[in-house]
Amino acid sequence: MTDTMLTDLVARETSRQEETITLIPSENYTSRAVREALGSALTNKYSEGYPHKRYYQGNTIIDEIEDIAIDRAKKLFGVPHVNVQPYSGSPANAAVYMALLSPGDTIMGLKLSGGGHLTHGHPDITFSGTFFRSVQYDVSPDGRIDTEDVAALARKEKPKIIVVGTTAYPRIFDWEKWRAIADDVGAFLLADISHIAGLVVGGAHPSPVPYADVIMTTTHKTLRGPRGAMILVTERGLAKDPAMGEKIDKAVFPGLQGGPHDNVTAGIATALFEASQPEFRVYAQNIVSNAKVLASTLIEGGLTLTTGGTDNHLMVVDLRPQHAIGNIVAEALERANIVVNKNSVPHDTNPPFYPSGIRIGTPAITTRGMGEKEMNIIGNWIVEVVREVSHYHLPETKEGRRGFLSTVKKELEQNVKLKQIAHEVAVLCRRFPL
Ligand SMILES: Cc1ncc(COP(=O)(O)O)c(C=O)c1O
Repeated sequence: MTDTMLTDLVARETSRQEETITLIPSENYTSRAVREALGSALTNKYSEGYPHKRYYQGNTIIDEIEDIAIDRAKKLFGVPHVNVQPYSGSPANAAVYMALLSPGDTIMGLKLSGGGHLTHGHPDITFSGTFFRSVQYDVSPDGRIDTEDVAALARKEKPKIIVVGTTAYPRIFDWEKWRAIADDVGAFLLADISHIAGLVVGGAHPSPVPYADVIMTTTHKTLRGPRGAMILVTERGLAKDPAMGEKIDKAVFPGLQGGPHDNVTAGIATALFEASQPEFRVYAQNIVSNAKVLASTLIEGGLTLTTGGTDNHLMVVDLRPQHAIGNIVAEALERANIVVNKNSVPHDTNPPFYPSGIRIGTPAITTRGMGEKEMNIIGNWIVEVVREVSHYHLPETKEGRRGFLSTVKKELEQNVKLKQIAHEVAVLCRRFPL
């Protein structure tokens, strides 16, 4: 018997992905080969442990697969030690902390509102802000990280680890400067390149490998692999602590996880193969050139971007000059078949549920083969949609906000302009099949 309820939903989601423009910077379209690995018989196997040192029999082939994934990652990034088992980025960061820190040690990362990630020490509600003493740096009023400020905070707080890496930051990292900050206070330097890993291997962003001690990356963003993560230990990291690789492995298993997801390991190996092909370098360059064209189109249309633009795959639109609200713009764009996410802007005074920005990225549409011309078209649609909903302002009081969102959503459903753009988007998407 077939579970049609689920097959229908999967078919509908597949169509949604085909018929809409995905501008969420952390999403991408994996290749058929990656999805075949994920959906393969490898998901049936248990293989706690590491290649050639397993707790279960029947792992000869799985050992080969994991060895291939590790070797490919070592070669592609140029590092001596790799762990491909973390279930995802958040547990991978937890494993790094478990390997290198003791509970209560000080970690230093970028604030969430400035573009950092929850696992970089966000206070109170996360493991990283609860089990460690967390101090956080922020971006300057211009939206950029001022490394002088970070250095001063590091000297004051003496963190044991400095985390550099972001989810919503549109600029390049000067890794050498971060190394100097870490060395000044004897801290480990963790580069979390989850967002930019594909740009790094494709030569579109400088590599942190010569400077960081340890690097974490998710595998499903610009790297275009399955949901997963890798921890890379650099030569520098091993020089500092020759046991660092072993400590990382022990923290992943048995420290935090059980059996690895072998189907994902095969998917990661496949994605690493794809990322080592010459075409991937072109892809990485195109992500950035598309982002730059999209950014200029938005600016020409009167929108404001944090830091004034982008050097990488993403941009954050600051909607405060329009007095527009991030989630309403995001809702309206979804009605127009354009999918983005609401995002806080640096020093946002709006509550996180009604942030003043949206985050936009080009990895997925670049995978579809879209280029400069399409960036202009998409950028102009976004400008039109923002104009269409800029008269919705956040009610001052809690009372006023009650029912506000549902009323706006109902109005957006009827909006003729959004319907017209949605139709045009569908036509464009058909020209760029997945
Ligand atoms: C910089 C950064 N680190 C860590 C993570 C966590 O990854 P995951 O969502 O796979 O746990 C993300 C994901 O958004 C990220 O952007």
